[in-house]
Amino acid sequence: MQIHVGIITVSDRASRGEYDDLGGPALKEAALGYGWTVDAESLVADEKRDIQRAIREQINKGCELVLATGGTGVGLRDVTPEAVREIAIRELPGFGEVMRMESLKVTKNAILSRNLAVVVDKSLVVCLPGKPSGAVECLGFVVGAIPHCLEVLQEVPTSC
Ligand code: MTE
Repeated sequence: MQIHVGIITVSDRASRGEYDDLGGPALKEAALGYGWTVDAESLVADEKRDIQRAIREQINKGCELVLATGGTGVGLRDVTPEAVREIAIRELPGFGEVMRMESLKVTKNAILSRNLAVVVDKSLVVCLPGKPSGAVECLGFVVGAIPHCLEVLQEVPTSC
């Protein structure tokens, strides 16, 4: 199946224009490299309501996969995990486990990350670190399971 992707950058400072959003464009390049189409891009502040609204808008536009970057750290303004869990029907713990396990080989700070993936409606929402290179790396650690996950959620016939 063709995968339609939405990308959300979660950042107070980028949303105020204090610096350029580098994470969204980096994830877009990675998504296009995987042969996916990018149908929606959003830039929101670290506010639960804004994050939840952006996810719902992108799902309503037909995105089966939403990639969020930022807000998964230990900072007091980091609320992405709380925002997505509130609207999720289930969490897929393996995504966060693998992202942290593999990222620990790159940086010991990976233990501080709260990366995760959840299901919202019939879409997969993957929450990646805010650092652009970390977001692209973490997507790479879990990309292998994404097509099958989306086929199951979208009820497309699969071979396994
Ligand atoms: N994971 C990978 N693969 N590569 C990285 O460079 N950076 C880490 C971590 N995960 C990183 C990574 C850092 S520096 C932090 S503080 C945490 O993710 C949380 O990131 P966030 O606050 O931007 O969400």
